[in-house]
Amino acid sequence: MRIILAGATGAVGAPVARALLAAGHDVIGLSRTRNGLPEGVRPLTADALERDGLLRAARGTRADAVIHQLTALKKPPMRHRDMTLTNRLRVEGTANLIALAREVGATRFLTQSMIFGYGYGDLGDQPVTEAAPFGRDGRGGFTAHLRAMRSNEEQTFAIGGIALRYGIFYGAADDPTVDLIRQGRLPVPKGGVISRIHVEDAATATLAALERGRPGQAYNIVDDLPAGWRDYYRAVAEAHGAPAPRTVPAWLLKATPYLHAIFTATCRVSNARAKSELGWTPRYPTYRDGIAATTA
Ligand SMILES: NC(=O)c1ccc[n+]([C@@H]2O[C@H](COP(=O)([O-])OP(=O)(O)OC[C@H]3O[C@@H](n4cnc5c(N)ncnc54)[C@H](OP(=O)(O)O)[C@@H]3O)[C@@H](O)[C@H]2O)c1
Repeated sequence: MRIILAGATGAVGAPVARALLAAGHDVIGLSRTRNGLPEGVRPLTADALERDGLLRAARGTRADAVIHQLTALKKPPMRHRDMTLTNRLRVEGTANLIALAREVGATRFLTQSMIFGYGYGDLGDQPVTEAAPFGRDGRGGFTAHLRAMRSNEEQTFAIGGIALRYGIFYGAADDPTVDLIRQGRLPVPKGGVISRIHVEDAATATLAALERGRPGQAYNIVDDLPAGWRDYYRAVAEAHGAPAPRTVPAWLLKATPYLHAIFTATCRVSNARAKSELGWTPRYPTYRDGIAATTA
């Protein structure tokens, strides 16, 4: 297939691009700059938030599929306002990429979604499946993020597209938190438990969904073992020979409500549907496996 991959230079977009190329697909990478565009990807340079310019840049291009991997999270979000641009990419960005898909004749559309769409609080001990409510209004500042995630998915399902509800990404080549841990500069709160996914596994799941996903479906893309932040960062420190990170009480993060919510949320998510319908299994079933492979 010929695929337009929006965000091909990103932390997850680049591994997705490499997985698509390795499977023999032809990849056109959409981004505003070409920094970090994987070898073999043809550039399509445009701003996805400017519909006219985007469609102009794509004029004459034909493609079978469009994959939306756009976020604006290079700086980890701490306050609600740090999510504004990402929310726009999930509402206007999705609308513009759907217009792009029409323009180039693409019949498959996949979008990056997120397990926080199930809610930022404590979702309990049982693994959450795709049948759980998604993108329901939350407390205060969280509603804008939840509505943006819902809009992204609703627009996608309306054209028979597929939403990939990824867990927390880890394993990216330039993950800034790894350096902070190595330098002993990242205190970690005792807090919730969350499902994660190594970026290479996110990439193979995306490829599987492109080739075998059912139109109009959501798939949770997470590994097999939800884990606490403290356990995760302790394992990162251990793998790098750094001292275990200092533990701080979660209330210390209350000045940065978005970060506080991320660190205290309990969100255990089931990957059963992705395994059975997509025939996908994570190469790194736990964060320990993924950290060991990334460090090696
Ligand atoms: N599920 C999760 O845990 C999750 C989800 C997303 C991101 N993150 C984290 O956030 C950090 C950054 O992730 P990332 O690299 O994917 O995000 P990013 O650096 O913000 O960029 C994502 C991609 O989108 C492109 N892009 C952004 N805005 C665009 C626009 N208006 N028009 C066209 N292209 C645009 C970027 O290229 P240009 O800047 O060149 O345009 C880049 O290719 C990573 O640490 C990642 O792990 C986590």
